[in-house]
Amino acid sequence: MSVNLHTEVCRLLSIQYPVFQAGLAGGPGTAALTAAVSAAGGFGTLGAAYLAPEQLRAAIREIRAATDRPFGVNLFVPQANAAKGRTELPAEEERRILSLIDRVRADLGLEPADRLPDEPRTIDFGEQMAVLLEERVPAVGTTFGVLPAEYRKEAADRGMKVITMVTTVDEAEEAQRQGADLLVAQGAEAGGHRGTFDVGRYPGGANVGTFALVPQVVDRVRIPVIAAGGVMDGRGLAAALLLGAQGVQLGTRFLTSLEAGTAPAYREALKTSKETDTEVTTAFSGRPARGVDNAFMRMWRESGLAALPFPLQNALTREIRTAAAAQGRAEYLSLWSGQGLRQLGNGEPAGEIVRRIAAEAENALRGTNS
Ligand SMILES: Cc1cc2nc3c(=O)[nH]c(=O)nc-3n(C[C@H](O)[C@H](O)[C@H](O)COP(=O)(O)O)c2cc1C
Repeated sequence: MSVNLHTEVCRLLSIQYPVFQAGLAGGPGTAALTAAVSAAGGFGTLGAAYLAPEQLRAAIREIRAATDRPFGVNLFVPQANAAKGRTELPAEEERRILSLIDRVRADLGLEPADRLPDEPRTIDFGEQMAVLLEERVPAVGTTFGVLPAEYRKEAADRGMKVITMVTTVDEAEEAQRQGADLLVAQGAEAGGHRGTFDVGRYPGGANVGTFALVPQVVDRVRIPVIAAGGVMDGRGLAAALLLGAQGVQLGTRFLTSLEAGTAPAYREALKTSKETDTEVTTAFSGRPARGVDNAFMRMWRESGLAALPFPLQNALTREIRTAAAAQGRAEYLSLWSGQGLRQLGNGEPAGEIVRRIAAEAENALRGTNS
C-alpha cells in the first residue's frame, strides 16, 4: 500500500500539506493563526461563528494581507429548532437556574442576573454569508449542518469550496447529497462543539471515536474526508491517511501556539490537565461540547438542570465567561479541549507545528511505502 502526503485535497485546495487548523471560534482562533498555518503550507481556518459582519470582513482582509495562500472560514449553521426567544420554563426551574448563575456571578463580583435571556442575540448567518461571498473566500466550512441551499450555487459560481463537519455516516451521506466538496469527520475525542446535526436525536452529540468513524465514512462517500479528533502529531496524520482520510484537522494542538488568542488562565489549565480530564457538557452554550472539566461544569451537572437550548445558554453564561477570562478564573471558563492534552506544546509558532507534523508523517509513512 502506497500512501502519499500530497493527497487529493492538496490538489483540490492548492495546499502543500493536508494539515487543517480548525476554526476555534470564541477567542483562540485569530486571523494571525489562520494566516500562519496557511503560509506554512497547511490550511488555516478562521472560526467566525461569533464574528459580526464587519469584524469578519476585517479578519479576512488581515489574513489576505499576511499571506496569499488559500484559507477557509467556518460558520455555525442556524438550527432549525433554535430558540427564537425566551424558553417557557416552569417558574421553579427558572428560579433554580438563576440561583446557580447568581452564585457564580457573585463570586466574580457581577450583579445578579434578574432574568433568563430573551433573545439569543446571535449574529445573522445571512449577513455573514454575504461577506464571505463578496470576499470570495477560498472555502466556507459549516458546523451543526450543511450549508443552506440558497448559498450553494453562489458559492460554487465564485469557485468557493464547501466543507461540512460530520459526526456520523448518515450526516456524511447527507452532506455529500447536499453538494459538499469535502467533509471533516469529527470523532468523539475532539475538543469544542460536537458538529452533530440533530442534537434532539443525540442530546450529548453523536460520539463515535475517530478510529471507528473515519473508515466507515470513507467507505460510504466519494468526496474527500478529513479526520478530526485527537490528532496531535505526525503519527496521527499518518494513521488517518492509512484509514482512508485525505488529511487531518487539528484544534487542540493549536490552542497553545504562539498566534492563538487563548486566554492565559485557559493555557495554564490545558498545561496542567491530562487525557482523562475532559467531559462533554451543554452547560456553557446549550450544545454539547468537549472541554476540561471545571467547577462550572460540575455545578451544572450536580444541579441536574437541563441547559437552555443553544444559543440561549450561551447568552446566559456570556458575562460569566468574559469576567472569568479577565480575572484569570479558569473554574468558570469554557476550556474547550480534546483528549490529546499531554501532547500540547508551549507557545511554538503555528507554522512550525504544521511543518513538524508533515515531516513526522512523511517519516512514519516511509516505512509503509517500501
Ligand atoms: C477551542 C476550540 C474551538 C473550536 N471551535 C470550532 C469552531 O468554531 N468551528 C468548528 O467547526 N470546530 C471547532 N472546534 C472543533 C474542531 O473543528 C475539531 O473538530 C477538533 O478541534 C478536533 O479535535 P482536537 O481538538 O482533538 O484536535 C473547536 C475546537 C476547540 C478545541
